[in-house]
Amino acid sequence: PEVQPEPYRIKAIEPLVLTTRAQREAALREAGWNTFLLRSQDVYIDFLTDSGTSAMSSVQWAEMMRAAETLSYSAAYHRFVETIQEVYGFPYVLPTHQGRAAEHVLSQVLIRPGQYVANNMYFTTTREHQERAGGIFVDVIIDEAHDPAAHHPFKGNMDPEKLRDLIRRVGPEQVAYVCLELNVNMAGGQPVSLENVRTVAQLCREFGIPLIFDATRAAENAYFIKAREPGMQDRAIPDIFRELMSYADGITVSAKKDLLVNIGGFLAVRDAALYRRMEQFALRFEGHPADGGLARRDLVAMAQGAREMLDVNYLRSRIEQVAYLAAALRKAGVPIVEPPGGHAVFIDARRFLPHLPQDQFPAQRLAGEIYLAAGVRAMERGIVSAGRDPETGQHKYPRLELVRLTIPRRVYTQRHLDVAAEGILDVFARREQIGGLRMVFEPPVLRFFTARFEPM
Ligand code: F0G
Repeated sequence: PEVQPEPYRIKAIEPLVLTTRAQREAALREAGWNTFLLRSQDVYIDFLTDSGTSAMSSVQWAEMMRAAETLSYSAAYHRFVETIQEVYGFPYVLPTHQGRAAEHVLSQVLIRPGQYVANNMYFTTTREHQERAGGIFVDVIIDEAHDPAAHHPFKGNMDPEKLRDLIRRVGPEQVAYVCLELNVNMAGGQPVSLENVRTVAQLCREFGIPLIFDATRAAENAYFIKAREPGMQDRAIPDIFRELMSYADGITVSAKKDLLVNIGGFLAVRDAALYRRMEQFALRFEGHPADGGLARRDLVAMAQGAREMLDVNYLRSRIEQVAYLAAALRKAGVPIVEPPGGHAVFIDARRFLPHLPQDQFPAQRLAGEIYLAAGVRAMERGIVSAGRDPETGQHKYPRLELVRLTIPRRVYTQRHLDVAAEGILDVFARREQIGGLRMVFEPPVLRFFTARFEPM
C-alpha cells in the first residue's frame, strides 16, 4: 500500500542494541515470559505501547526549555489551559499526571456505589477505576467489535439498542454516565463514527445521563471519520474534532498518546460545579490543580502537542504506517484484527495458535515468541489483561485473544516495520510447534503488568 511520506525528518537519534537469540532467550526467561518485565535495553523494536513513547518535535523541546518552573498558576499553566480550551472546546481543564489519574478523579466524583457505567468495550485502567468507585461496568459496544474477522468501518461504535436496554432495565438515575472511548484501544484501535456519537449523545440527553469521552486517541478517531465516513472527506480535521468534542459533557485524556508527549493527562468539563468537585478531589492525590503533579515544562509540551496532533499529513502518515505493517502480515496469511486500527496491529492469537486453549495464554506466548524471533516487543491483550471476575474469581475469558504491535508516533522507519514483519513471519512458519504457558505468579490487580509465566 502507499504510505504518506513522513512530514518530518530526524534531528537527534537514539542508538539501539542488536541482540542474539541466545541473549533474548535469557532475557525472556528472566522476565517470566512477560514482555512488560523485559529490560528495554534488551529490546530492538519496541511495540509495547504507543503511550509516552512519541518522538517530540523540536518546537516541543524548545517550549519545555523556555517554561519557567514557577509554582501555582504559572504562565505554563495558562498556556496549557488556553490551548486545551481552544482545541477541545471545554471551559474547565484540570491537568493530571496521566490518563488513569483523570479516570480516578472522574470516577470518584461521578459514580455513586451501585450505579452502572456504560462503555464501548473496556480499557483496563478505566474499568478498574469505575469498579473501585463502586460502579458496575457494562459493555454496550456493537457485536462486530468482538469478532476480529468482522469488517466494519467503525468497529468502536456503541450499540444504541444495548444502551437503551440498559437504561430501561436499571433506570436512568442508576446510570452514572456513559463512557465513550474514541478509537477503542482493546477492540484494535477501532474508531467511532460521528453519526454514532450523535446518536449516543441524543440518547444521553433524552434520559439526562452525562456523556463522558475517553478522548485519549480522539485525534486519530477524527482522521478515520474524515477518511471513512460518508460526507466527511472535505472537512478539516480540527473542524471534525471540535464537532466530536461538542457532544461530550466531559473528557478524560491520557496525553501520552494523541498529544505527543512522554507524560501527562487531563480532565475537561463544561460544568463549573463539577470542576470544583474534581479540583478538590485532585488536590489530595494529584498535586496542585494548576499542575496535576507535572512539571510546568510538561504542561507546555502538552499544549504544543495539542497543536501538532491535528495536522492531517502527520495523522495520515501515522495511520498508514499501521496499515503498512498490517498489509505485510495479511499478505502472508497471518490472522490480524480487520480492519487495522489507528495505533496498532493486533494479531489474532486464537487463529495463529488454534491448538492452544485460552487458559494456556496463547497471546502471552505469542508475544514472547515474537520477541525471541526479532527482538520486537509486543503486548498481550487477551485473557491475562482481562483479569478475573471480582464475583466468581474465575478468569474472564474475553472473546478477543490478541497480541498488540503498537506503533509509537514519529519514532520508527518503514525499514523497522519490515524487520518486525519478517520476524513475525518466522514465528508463523513454525506456529504448530509452539506450546502454551503456565502462570507461576499472579498479582491481585492489573495482573498483566507483573504476572510471570513458564513454558509448559
Ligand atoms: N484510556 C485509554 C484508551 C488508554 O489506552 C490508556 C492507556 C489510558 C486510558 C490510561 O492512560 O496510561 O496515561 O494512565 N493506555 C496505555 C496503552 C497504557 O499502552 O494502551 P495512562
